Amino acid sequence: MSRKALIAANWKMYKTPAEAKAFVDAFLQLVAGHTRDEIALFPSPVLLPTVIEAAKGSNVLVGCQNIHFAEEGAYTGETSVGQLKAVGGTHTLIGHSERRQYFAETDEIVNKKLHTALKHGLVPVVCVGEVLAEREAGKTADVLKTQVTGALAGITAEMAAPIVIAYEPVWAIGTGKTATPEMAVEAHRIIRAEVAKLLGPAVAAAIRILYGGSVKPDNATALIGQEEIDGALVGGASLKPDSFTAIIKY
Ligand code: PGA
Repeated sequence: MSRKALIAANWKMYKTPAEAKAFVDAFLQLVAGHTRDEIALFPSPVLLPTVIEAAKGSNVLVGCQNIHFAEEGAYTGETSVGQLKAVGGTHTLIGHSERRQYFAETDEIVNKKLHTALKHGLVPVVCVGEVLAEREAGKTADVLKTQVTGALAGITAEMAAPIVIAYEPVWAIGTGKTATPEMAVEAHRIIRAEVAKLLGPAVAAAIRILYGGSVKPDNATALIGQEEIDGALVGGASLKPDSFTAIIKY
């Protein structure tokens, strides 16, 4: 089963429009003609028009770090799927651990956002992962199963094709501590088995599961090179064109 890898940049709350434009201009030259993997950038909403315009016609996809589940409404500070699509965005992260941790996103909210994203034809990257205390207590598998089951509630096999899952152990995000390839593969297998249980073996075999958490140029090959790991969600190392490119060219 060959799944095309997706290497995605989560810029979090970094970069001005001028910095984002300078990144894309330099980056497009570095990844021109790279078709082995899909490449996506997830900037802050205020940067989306700049990044989408700069990446137009290239092999680089662009999406939002978060969307609201409502079509529109009185939700101060939020971004709707319609707004994202109107500026040309095609992808969205959902349920990143920082959203769960600092903005109280629950599995139920993640599920609502996933339904909205799919309804509007976006590619959703649903993030799951355990915190350190859960890993140390031997609860990683339970946490992953609960998060995957919660995210996929009401999703059918027919709806599932665009879905991407990102396994991001929270203790590895921004800490420089990466899961070993063995730990990542084990978690990915748990997630894929849960998808198989919920949506059937064909969906499970086709769904892409990315690894995220301190992915850097020097560990990218060991991680993404694993048959079970279908790409990466990269934070810190995605902020510079050269380091992100080095990961893409693992
Ligand atoms: P990191 O972030 O690569 O800086 O650990 C990953 C993420 O939060 O998606």
